Amino acid sequence: MSIHIGAKQGEIAPTVLMPGDPMRAKHFAETMLEDVFCYNKVRGMLGYTGNYKGKRISIMGSGMGMPTLSIYINELVTEYNVKTLIRVGTCGALQPHLKVGDIVLPMSSSTNSHINKLRFNGMDYAPTASFKLLMNAWEEARKLTSRVYVGGMFSSDTFYNDDPDWWKKWADYGALVCEMETTVLYTLAAKFKVDALSVLTVSDSLVTGESASAEQREKDFPVMAKIALEISP
Ligand code: HPA
Repeated sequence: MSIHIGAKQGEIAPTVLMPGDPMRAKHFAETMLEDVFCYNKVRGMLGYTGNYKGKRISIMGSGMGMPTLSIYINELVTEYNVKTLIRVGTCGALQPHLKVGDIVLPMSSSTNSHINKLRFNGMDYAPTASFKLLMNAWEEARKLTSRVYVGGMFSSDTFYNDDPDWWKKWADYGALVCEMETTVLYTLAAKFKVDALSVLTVSDSLVTGESASAEQREKDFPVMAKIALEISP
């Protein structure tokens, strides 16, 4: 047990896939892994371990936002010896060519959060994906879909903003999408010398206001999990 994870030593695999939503972790684990067991229910942040094509893999919710994700990553790496972290989550499109259901593999992530300013005494850090995971994910994604994009993105500390145009500056500077976790995922992976990648699905567009239907979520979201499972070491 660590402070926030109820697993015994050895119950968590060296690779952990992390959707934000614990119920999505349950769904992916029960539909895509074999010989699955649940190792965590603390705070409802469900975590499962099972097998995928002979590889032992865990899938656990991360919650929403960088502080929550940080707590789980710290404990997964320092207490359970996790070596590869793959976020499988949703994002909002900031570019007109991105549509609901598209896959985005962020190379780097800007942020409005102070979380790294605190870490680096007010200076800026450039959080970057694992090139090995990114390259493998690109190749795997291209086998499954033509709708995959690689580029910069933006991790926000807010989902609801007073200014409806807040995202346009970041879009001007090329950010493909926004979500609320990747900046700190890539930063902690660098700190702990482990590999990390976000594999994201566009669930809504800030450009058009389009949002994924229940049917699109069911059809599109397993694609990111399949990419993550295939590239898992
Ligand atoms: N904003 C922030 N996070 C998100 C969004 C969004 O529009 N969509 C999915 N995650």
